[in-house]
Amino acid sequence: MAAQTENDEDDDVNPFATLLADDEHNEDKVNGCSVIQDGAAKLQKHLVRSINSMIVIRQLPSEGLSFQLWPAATTLVSLLDQYRCEPAKSPLSSTLSVLANDTNHSHLRILELGSGTGIVGIVAAATLGANVIVTDLPHVVPNLQFNADANAGVLASNGGAVSVAPLQWGHAEDVELIGRDFDLILASDVVYHNHLYDPLLQTLRLLLLGSDQKMAFVMAHLRRWKKESAFFKKAKKLFEVDILHTDNPCEGCRVGVIIYRFAGKG
Ligand SMILES: C[S@@+](CC[C@H](N)C(=O)[O-])C[C@H]1O[C@@H](n2cnc3c(N)ncnc32)[C@H](O)[C@@H]1O
Repeated sequence: MAAQTENDEDDDVNPFATLLADDEHNEDKVNGCSVIQDGAAKLQKHLVRSINSMIVIRQLPSEGLSFQLWPAATTLVSLLDQYRCEPAKSPLSSTLSVLANDTNHSHLRILELGSGTGIVGIVAAATLGANVIVTDLPHVVPNLQFNADANAGVLASNGGAVSVAPLQWGHAEDVELIGRDFDLILASDVVYHNHLYDPLLQTLRLLLLGSDQKMAFVMAHLRRWKKESAFFKKAKKLFEVDILHTDNPCEGCRVGVIIYRFAGKG
């Protein structure tokens, strides 16, 4: 949730803008993105070509893995950008175009799980003009809110909106609070620790199989360990699992990021 300021004048100050203005001299280019180090915070500017806009994301690497941008997120961001430019040529086309036709709402409603920095949900909202809820563990929510607020202008000018909520996998009450009224669930790099496989599958089950609403789950995943096949084996018992896209492996990697789609069977 948005941090309350004691001084009303602070409401007009975008903390990102201040940091970016003050720290241009620390700017480096990494993989085509501008990265600005400001003490413990790493501010990364991503150009989203399809909307000719910069999305700015604050990472806090010293706070842990939830505060960093993971490689699979970058793939999903690129594909969303590409979909907006050339929907028919995009690997996301079969899913997104069908959803856009099927939904009764003027804006797609999207839920992101394990959002981390929130970049995927923010770019989805901006490129699809969607209403997105980005979620993660409670202690991650303040940084998610910071990043949503920092991109409020780009979101508004593209007809998208992002809200932030805690959602812990395996906690049915968190899903009850958020509801199941979504067209699409997104996630990136959420299959890593094996003790999280069952809670994540339980949440997906509640969302994808727990309502009449036809929803798809699109997940970007970079395989790191053999044990991950246990997650996909269990997932295939519950859902139809398709591969929408596979990235070429980046330098030094054996495999590339894979985009999966899960949907209810039948
Ligand atoms: C490897 S990070 C990926 C973050 C982001 N999606 C990305 O690709 O940059 C995994 C994310 O899942 C979240 N996570 C881990 N366990 C979770 C749980 N039980 N419930 C909800 N989120 C969880 C973490 O906090 C973290 O943000």
